[in-house]
Order: sequence, then C-alpha cells, then structure tokens
Amino acid sequence: MTKTASAPITNLHVARDDDFSAAVLEGLGASPKRLYPRLLYDERGSRLFERICEQPEYYVTRVEMEVLRLEGRKIIDALDGEVDLIELGSGNSMKTRIILDHLSDRQGHFEYRPIDISEEILRKTSQEIQADYPNISVHGFVADFLAGLEFLKLKTSRQRLILFLGSNLGNFEYGEALEFLKQIRRGAVTGDWILLGIDMDKDPAVIEGAYNDAAGFTREFMLNLLDRINRELGGDFDRSGFQFRAEYNQAGQRMEIGVLSRRKQKVFLEEMDRTIRFSRGEWIEMEVSCKYTPGRLQWLLREAGLQTVRQVSDSRGWFTLNLCRVP
Ligand code: AVJ
Repeated sequence: MTKTASAPITNLHVARDDDFSAAVLEGLGASPKRLYPRLLYDERGSRLFERICEQPEYYVTRVEMEVLRLEGRKIIDALDGEVDLIELGSGNSMKTRIILDHLSDRQGHFEYRPIDISEEILRKTSQEIQADYPNISVHGFVADFLAGLEFLKLKTSRQRLILFLGSNLGNFEYGEALEFLKQIRRGAVTGDWILLGIDMDKDPAVIEGAYNDAAGFTREFMLNLLDRINRELGGDFDRSGFQFRAEYNQAGQRMEIGVLSRRKQKVFLEEMDRTIRFSRGEWIEMEVSCKYTPGRLQWLLREAGLQTVRQVSDSRGWFTLNLCRVP
C-alpha cells in the first residue's frame, strides 16, 4: 500500500466551471459540432481513461511502458547535467515512475511538477509520488496543456526535462501539433530537454481496435461527456439517442472518435437556456488521435526547431520515445 505525504497543488484556474460551459457552447454551436478532448476528463472521465489504458486492445500505454522499461535508462543516460522534471498531462504518473527511478539513481534531489486537468487525480498522484520518493519535491499544477505552457515560464534551478508522454500530442491536428511544440520551445530555455511519446502509424485494424475495446470503456468515456453536460449544465442528453463511433481515417492517418445522433432531436441546456438541434446522422467529434510516420515525426521535430538527441522504440516500431533538446 502506498503511504501518503502532502504535496502542494496549485490551481492555474483553467479547469473552471465557466471554461466548461463556454467550451461546450462554442463546440456545439460550431459546424461540424465538436466537443474538445480536454472536456472528457472530469473525475469519472479520468477514471475511465485509466481503465482504457488497461484494456488488451489499447496497446498504446502497454507498448510505451515496455519502451520505457527497456530503453528508459538509455534516455536518461543521454542527459548531460542534472534536471528538474515537468510533465504535461501526468494523469496517474504510472509510466513516469520509471523515469523517476532512473533519475533518482543519477542525482540526489530534483523537483517534479506534474500538470494535469483533473485535480482529483493530480492530488492523489502527487501525494503518492511524494510518499514514495522522499528525494523529490513534488508540486502539482491543475491546468490544461495550453495553460500548462504558461507555467513553463516559471523557471526551476536546473535544466528542465519536459515530459509529454502517452501520445497526448496526437489529440492535436498536425499543424496544431507543430504550433504547440513551437510554443513549448518558446517557453523553454536553451539546454532544456523534451521527451515526447508518440504513437506511430501501423496496421489500421490494430489502431482501430484500440479505440473499439470489447469491454466498451472507450464508448463509455465518450458518452460520459454527454452525462457530464447533463450533470453540470442541466442538459437533457438522452444517451440512447447517440451512437459511439471510432474510425481510422487512413488518408488522414488519424482516429476520429465521437458520437452520431441516431435521429433528428433537440437537447436543452437549462443552465444557459439554450437549445441545440441535431439532425439524423449528425456527427459530434470528441477526439482525434493522430498517428505519425517516421518521416512526419522527423519533419515535425525539425520544423519545431528541436534537436533530436535520441529516439527509441519497441521492436515493431509501434511507439517511439523522442528525446529532444532546445538549441
Ligand atoms: C490520451 C489522447 C493519447 O488518443 O489514444 C484513448 C486518448 N481516447 N482512447 C489517445 C484516448 C480514447 C488517448 N490520448
């Protein structure tokens, strides 16, 4: 059993209620309709995502973990000098522990600043990590990725190693991903490191299977967002009126995940006194998950102005970890 220890948590005030309502209104008012992936992660959504990561079809977490176990040491060995750690989208920090272990072997003390949109998970995880690693100072920040970038401007005493694992970058379209990396670079200083975990393009059946788990957790993860809107905004979404769909768009090399309206229908959001109309078959996009070819990844890192210092992957090349440096 894990002990607990107190670790400070700072809320960067982006996971606020008014952000949720504004984002829902904006997304459902757009054409085509969309709900941003960050909205999926209320407390229940974050738990569902953890369950997804345990499903046999969802190879992403398992393969990344394998790469970290087999090659994590090589990555940490490539760092010159001591670092502090910042993690964007830390979740339960399970994979990060491998990095914390290697770093602890190398240097006595360092800071770990996990940033996550879900306060509950962040609080619990920060306390557990603090209890298990007395040599580390843990300070958690509640923020989405964009606000997390602001926070990069707060310097630490050592070079920073910025972790962006789990192929979280995949939630951005390719152009947005480039912009995001450029922003990380701007928030970082010369000598900082970035470790990116990226899910690579592969057999479409394998990819599509990962988002259509037999146990139905991915479906539940999406439908939970409709429930969340009902809970927090007084909506009257009827789950049975919507059908989950997750398809691989091969030309675009990306998963497209969301729900279809099974019929012409109206949904009323009481909190904002708004009615949203859906036509039969209308699509609400909730997530894209872009996959990368080696060539596109190389292009992305170069365009973002990052130097790739080390790249490691599993034997099948399904997932890569990319250690980059800010020049
Ligand atoms: C957390 C964005 C990396 O795209 O694979 C998993 C999210 N959604 N199953 C992914 C997700 C449905 C995941 N990322």
